[in-house]
Amino acid sequence: MDNQSLLALSEKYGNPIYVYNTEKIISQYNRMTNAFSNVPKLKINYAVKANSNINILKVLNTLKSGVDCVSIQEVKLALEAGFNVKDIFFTPSGISFEEMETATKLGVQITLDSLSVLEKFGAKYSNIPVCLRINPHVMAGGNHKISVGHIDSKFGISIYQIDGIKNIVEKTGLKINGIHMHTGSDIYNIDAFLTATEILLNTVKEFDTIEFVDFGSGFKVPYKEGDIETNLEKMGATLSNRFNEFCKEYGRELTMIFEPGKFLVSSAGSFLVKVNVVKPTPNIVFIGVNSGLNHLLRPMMYDAYHHITNISNPEGEEKIYDVVGYICENDTFGSNRRISEVSENDVLCIHNAGAYCFSMASNYNSRFRPAEVLVHEGKDYLIRKEENFEDLLHNQIVLDL
Ligand code: LLP
Repeated sequence: MDNQSLLALSEKYGNPIYVYNTEKIISQYNRMTNAFSNVPKLKINYAVKANSNINILKVLNTLKSGVDCVSIQEVKLALEAGFNVKDIFFTPSGISFEEMETATKLGVQITLDSLSVLEKFGAKYSNIPVCLRINPHVMAGGNHKISVGHIDSKFGISIYQIDGIKNIVEKTGLKINGIHMHTGSDIYNIDAFLTATEILLNTVKEFDTIEFVDFGSGFKVPYKEGDIETNLEKMGATLSNRFNEFCKEYGRELTMIFEPGKFLVSSAGSFLVKVNVVKPTPNIVFIGVNSGLNHLLRPMMYDAYHHITNISNPEGEEKIYDVVGYICENDTFGSNRRISEVSENDVLCIHNAGAYCFSMASNYNSRFRPAEVLVHEGKDYLIRKEENFEDLLHNQIVLDL
C-alpha cells in the first residue's frame, strides 16, 4: 500500500496499528496454486497461527483454502469463520488427549505426532482415519527456534520408528490416510525441501491406505528488496513432477497439501508506529516509538529483519538510526538502519507484519494490544479494537485484601 493511504489509516484509526491488505493475500494464494497447477489434486491449508484474525480466515475461506490448526481454539475460530469441517486439518504437537478427542468429535482431520498418542487413539477410535506427522531428520529453517524437522526436534514420529507405527496399526486396525511433515520456517534452500520430500514419499510407500501427502510449509519470503526467498515457481515445477510420478508408482492419485503461513500473509501486513522520541547519544541516534516487543516480537525472538520506512518523510535525507521500543528491556526493531530523516511524531512503517506479529503479541508491561485494520476491495475496516484498561483487568480476580 502507498504511504499516503497508510498515513490516512493511521490518522483515522489511531496508532500503533496493524494494517492488512487482502489483495496481497489473494495474489500470494494464486501464486501458490499456479506454482503447483500441474498437480491434479492440490490443497492449500492456511496456517492459522500466522494470523488468526477471523476476517483473514474468512478471506481465505472465500478463496477455497483449507486451514491448518494447532489448537482446539484455532479449530473453533475456523468453524466460526465458516470453514467446512472437511477443510480443517488439525496438526498439533504434545497436546492433551482430551483436546485431541474434542477435535475428533468435531470431525476434523487429525494428525498424530507420537507413538504413545497413536496407541491411545487407535485403542479408542480405530474407525477414524488419521494422518501421521513424521520427523524426516532434515535440518531446515532460518533459525534454530523454527527448525523443527531435525533429529533433536520434538516434532513428529521419527522415520526410524516406522516399525513401531506398523505394529500399532496392525494391533488396532487404525487406518492411516495421510503422511505429514513440516521441517521449519524461512527455508530458502529448495534442496532441503526436496531431500525431505524423498524421505516423506518413502514413508508413504510403507502404507497402502494413503490419500494425501502434507508437505507442511516453511517458504522463505523476502523481508527487504533483493532478499533471498524460496523460488516457489522452480520448486513447484520440480516437486509437482516428482509427486505426479510418485502417484503413478503408488497407484493412486494422492492429494498434495501445503500449509503456508508466512507465504500467504507476511507481506500483506504493515505495522504503523509513531515516533515518541529522537534521542541522539554519543554512539547511536535512537528512535523511540510507541510500541515494543509486546506488539512485535520477531526481531527480539529470532533476530528477524523487518524493513522500516519513514512514511511521514519518505523523501528526506537518509540517516542511520536504531529503532527501539518502549519496553523495559533492550527491545530493538532495527539496528543501524538507513531511514529518511526522522522527527518526533513521524509515522514509521514496519513491513512484513502480516505473519506472526499480532498473533504473537502480548500485554507485557501492561500495555494494550493494538487495533487491526483490513483493506479489502478498496475499503478499510476496523477488524479489532485496541484493548483498553478494562480488558487488562478482565480475567483478574480482585481480592478484598
Ligand atoms: N505447518 C506447521 C505444522 C507449522 O508448525 C507451521 C509453522 C506452518 C505450517 C507454517 O509455516 P510458515 O509457512 O509460516 O513458515 N513464529 C515464527 C514462525 C514459527 C512457525 C511455526 N510453525 C516466526 O515468526 O518466524
